[in-house]
Amino acid sequence: MCLTIPGKIESIKKGIATVSNGSRTAQVDLGLVFDAKVGDWILYATDRAVKQISAEDAKEIISLLEDHYHPVDVSKLPLRFKKIIFKVRSQKTDNRLQITDNSPHDLTRDEIEYLLNLKGKDNLETLFAEANSIRKEVIEDFVCIHGIIEFSNHCKNNCLYCGIRRDNANSKRYRMTEDEIVAAAKDAVENEGYKLIVLQSGEDEYYSDEMLIKIIKKIKSLLKVFIFISVGERSRSFYKKALEAGASGSLIRFETSNSELYRKLRPGHILDNRLQLIRYLQELGYYVATGSMVGLPGQTVGDIAEDLLTIQRLGAPMISAGPYVEAKNTPLQITNYKLQISNKFQNPNDKMTNDLITDNRQPTTDNLELMLKFIAIARFMMPEVKIPVTTALETLDPENGRHRGLLAGANALMFNLTPEKYSKNYSIYDNKYREREKVWQKYGLFQGEESYEMLSDRLMVDTLHTNN
Ligand code: 5AD
Ligand code: SF4
Repeated sequence: MCLTIPGKIESIKKGIATVSNGSRTAQVDLGLVFDAKVGDWILYATDRAVKQISAEDAKEIISLLEDHYHPVDVSKLPLRFKKIIFKVRSQKTDNRLQITDNSPHDLTRDEIEYLLNLKGKDNLETLFAEANSIRKEVIEDFVCIHGIIEFSNHCKNNCLYCGIRRDNANSKRYRMTEDEIVAAAKDAVENEGYKLIVLQSGEDEYYSDEMLIKIIKKIKSLLKVFIFISVGERSRSFYKKALEAGASGSLIRFETSNSELYRKLRPGHILDNRLQLIRYLQELGYYVATGSMVGLPGQTVGDIAEDLLTIQRLGAPMISAGPYVEAKNTPLQITNYKLQISNKFQNPNDKMTNDLITDNRQPTTDNLELMLKFIAIARFMMPEVKIPVTTALETLDPENGRHRGLLAGANALMFNLTPEKYSKNYSIYDNKYREREKVWQKYGLFQGEESYEMLSDRLMVDTLHTNN
């Protein structure tokens, strides 16, 4: 659930150890790791020891969260960038727990756009290093690991960017049964130590409200786990019942804050309804994670700045955002664009998509850098917000996506828990990163009540803050 911090025991007094790992010293209750001695390495969460680990493992985990940026000669950075950094740093000295409206330190739309447009190695390394230092200072090195079960890839909608859109006849559809969903959750919690799982699907009416409620109740009755739902736009009464049944959170993106682009990309839907639903879920008491896609065709840097401001205005405790990744057999696929231009590709959405066609479209790998900037700026604007690295980012950089996301200011990871036989068909976008990286899980997941209680405290604290 939450990545723990390694520390080397320097001294022990009455079961309390002083531990240090070079960048951080803490007093830790040894509890169940009572036989650890001075010189041993342990993993600890908050102020409690979780388990003893080898010096080698400790080194590996420390390196996952340390950045290796070369010190940048700050005097050589552009003046405007230096001013923004200064502003963000002075915000750091304020009480960050106080959420204030229109704080003089808030970044302006112009400043956000300036940061999104930053180029050059020194500038970018400074941006990421500053964001990473805020993460370290505010959230420390607790990195949460969440699991996602994609239980159905049927969808009644036809979003232009999405690989499981209704009109994609090439998408191999599946639905997990109630028993399969519960079994996947059980495996995740009991065998792997997950404390928070997301139940996600396309908008699939096959699952009635009653079915979903039953599944949530069943999981909650069997397992000590937080359930987040990500099922798109359903009725308000469904969301109310789901909360009562034990769901704690909801992942619901507004996708883009540009209402015109939203209308084009999501035929039949309007942004206002989506935002109203998001606010309604917040009022009901859901822990709402929201955000947008970064690098959508037709989206401008100004739109992305507005997305960040929208997240800030909504006061979301957690961000759900990822880079746009081109999906096959969708109207937005570049090859389809070309066919459309030459009129060979007949698509009912032609009229809608025509004005999204530009000759100078960037390949989507550029969205990786844009997404890292988005994460860093989000960390500047909302120091305490939870930012998970989403699978789409890992898709664009399977080797280092997670690491780079964390080093740009993210603080949580999302692992796919969908059974293998189905997960290959949940192709919202292409080459989705699927491999389970056991290295992370080795450190991030551990059994026992403590981590659940810890997360419970954190969710409560977050909810209190957003309600302020
Ligand atoms: N690239 C990246 N993200 C996508 N999503 C849908 N299609 C794509 C794509 N091609 C995202 C949407 C949705 C979430 C479940 O997946 O933001 O909310
Ligand atoms: Fe359905 Fe969501 Fe894909 Fe849109 S983005 S087609 S609502 S699964």
